[in-house]
Amino acid sequence: MSDEQPFDTIIEPFRIKTVEPLRRTTRARREEALREAGWNLFSVCGKDVLIDLLTDSGTGALSARQWGMMMQGDETYAGADSFYRFEAAVQDITGLEYVIPTHQGRAAERILFRAMVNAGDLVLNNTHFDTTRANIEYRDAEAVDIPCVEAATNDDYPFKGNIDLVRLDQILTENPDRVPLVMITVTNNSGGGQPVSLANIRAAREICNQHDVPLFLDACRFAENAWFIHLREEGQANRTPIEIAREMFSLVDGATMSAKKDGMANIGGFLAMNDSEIVVACRNMLILTEGFPTYGGLAGYDLEAVAVGLYEALEEDYLRYRIASIAYLADILAREGVPMITPPGGHALYLDAGVLLPHIPWNEYPGWSLAIAIYLEGGIRGCEIGSVMFGQQPDGSEQAAPRELVRLAFPRRSYTQSHVDYVAEVLLRVYAKRDELRGMRMVNSPAVLRHFSARLEPLS
Ligand code: F0G
Repeated sequence: MSDEQPFDTIIEPFRIKTVEPLRRTTRARREEALREAGWNLFSVCGKDVLIDLLTDSGTGALSARQWGMMMQGDETYAGADSFYRFEAAVQDITGLEYVIPTHQGRAAERILFRAMVNAGDLVLNNTHFDTTRANIEYRDAEAVDIPCVEAATNDDYPFKGNIDLVRLDQILTENPDRVPLVMITVTNNSGGGQPVSLANIRAAREICNQHDVPLFLDACRFAENAWFIHLREEGQANRTPIEIAREMFSLVDGATMSAKKDGMANIGGFLAMNDSEIVVACRNMLILTEGFPTYGGLAGYDLEAVAVGLYEALEEDYLRYRIASIAYLADILAREGVPMITPPGGHALYLDAGVLLPHIPWNEYPGWSLAIAIYLEGGIRGCEIGSVMFGQQPDGSEQAAPRELVRLAFPRRSYTQSHVDYVAEVLLRVYAKRDELRGMRMVNSPAVLRHFSARLEPLS
């Protein structure tokens, strides 16, 4: 690891070889776009968005090295070279023995839960991502979130993504034979993109061992998590991100991964594990629904992009820039008192709409209202993580989500600092008129994952 850091300015550690124009829209057009979309930003066309912070998933820029290897993609149906390069990269970084490619993270989840989770089971996680939760509930099992107590505070605790070890032990003790696996999501996306410490994963491992329950990582943002460990955990400052990542994976029995995040790819994922029996059931399921085990629903060139991308996500210069650009935005907003989850996450900033809009009750969806206002103001698209996303119960009733957040997730290697300056300016303008914002009403809601396609309307 280089100890040389001679300048204060952290630069984007790349130059731009291919560009894509951004399209400006008028406020009138944005209003029209929202009306057409049922006031759901997921239904707004990309061409009507100026800066798209809806997700960091599959939206990043590929590197010249990735494109170069993609040209060498081997499209052989069975046993393609590209698969072996992909498998070698995943094994090298995770140390896990069996590697199953999948078209994205949720496919890995579905296959894993189909093999391991039965009706009436409990699956524990620091915080389940929405597709993870839905895939567990689809098995008639329960997804239980047990984030650490610090997660809900405004303290600058360094590892707010940690799993609650006391509750973990307690739930495992009270429910023998009911928990088929425990998961830890790194970083904890739905909990604010917050990291999990090595110490926490290690302690969870010990508790799982005592109860003989396997531990899996939801590893989507493993590289960002490793960087936070490097920055914040005692004794880790001299270790490289890849060394730390290897240790994180060495503590678990398996992992699900969306390569659309820290795989630096536009599509792809994997399921990896050490259990030679479960992997057989998973591979059989893979063949039924995804594809043959050496491509798993991906093209050879996709496998190549991931094989390179997993290493690029672990490069120090990249991680330094990545984390700094979110922190830069957070600093500007914090100076003006904009409420948000602090410290800022690795891939996203999470505005606290519940605090920002105290006049809007949870069942009028303050996060949704704020996300709409940000889009209307400056064409920036974020994503509500609040009572629209998490308020819907399996029995159809509604309940307040733990927090009303708006996530501004940054695609990897796509935007520069002036884009971030613009985002800050727009957010501060919205903040200045926060008292004028009104709540939303649900007009039409699908039975599951309603945030993707619900139609709402603003309350006058
Ligand atoms: N787990 C976590 C923690 C995620 O953030 C995601 C996706 C998944 C699993 C599922 O992966 O999309 O490849 O099927 N998160 C995206 C997001 C969609 O915007 O946060 P996928």
